[in-house]
Amino acid sequence: MSEEPRFTLDGRTVPFQDGQTIMAAALAAGIYIPHLCFNPEFTPHGSCRVCLVKVNGRMQASCTTPAAAGQVVQSEIDEVREIRRGLLQMLFVEGNHVCPACEKSGACQLQAVAYYVGMLAPHYTHFYPRRPVDASHPDALIDFNRCILCELCVRASREVDGKNVFAVQGRGIKAHLVVNTPSGKLGATDFSLSDKAAQVCPTGTILSKHSGYEIPIGQRLYDRKPINVVGDVAALAVSKGGRRHD
Ligand code: FES
Repeated sequence: MSEEPRFTLDGRTVPFQDGQTIMAAALAAGIYIPHLCFNPEFTPHGSCRVCLVKVNGRMQASCTTPAAAGQVVQSEIDEVREIRRGLLQMLFVEGNHVCPACEKSGACQLQAVAYYVGMLAPHYTHFYPRRPVDASHPDALIDFNRCILCELCVRASREVDGKNVFAVQGRGIKAHLVVNTPSGKLGATDFSLSDKAAQVCPTGTILSKHSGYEIPIGQRLYDRKPINVVGDVAALAVSKGGRRHD
């Protein structure tokens, strides 16, 4: 019987199966690699690049790079950490992320990953984009200021909910999340808080209207333990209504 193929990740041996990515194999082995646009339930998107690792000396996105036998993968090294920190710093200045006032604070994957990579200040000049808040839906609110264009809600709505409520329009700096209706308003769709799309946002972009601050900031998921210990899967396994903040 042939042995399972393996690669090394920061010196640890990681077994994998044919077709698995480095990210998937690492997660299966219980090793955390920071990520934002990746969710094990969806096809990898490879857009945020936060999951960057060094593979045989070259920087690659671990969520889209297939695992191969004998690969030498480096994740927790200064060179990689520095790039990840820069990416997070750019994400924070591109949008308007006001963590102390955000309902998602402490349960926000973006915030938790920023802490994990050692980002304590934005570093770059803020863009302060003018983005709307859509409160047209009876149960949900979209604050476009917090969107990082991971497209998880786009994929979830299309692939799981079968509704295709969201899309990304524009390119480069002009890329932005839109609601797929002539008015562009969430209230004109059949979006529901029980949709998968309501449960996968790694930031506080999509929120429930009918609850807030039920768990005090300071006692939430990532307030208690860092994301490399909790993992994002726990955060994304949200309760009905997309409001898991425990
Ligand atoms: Fe891999 Fe976003 S998590 S590119």
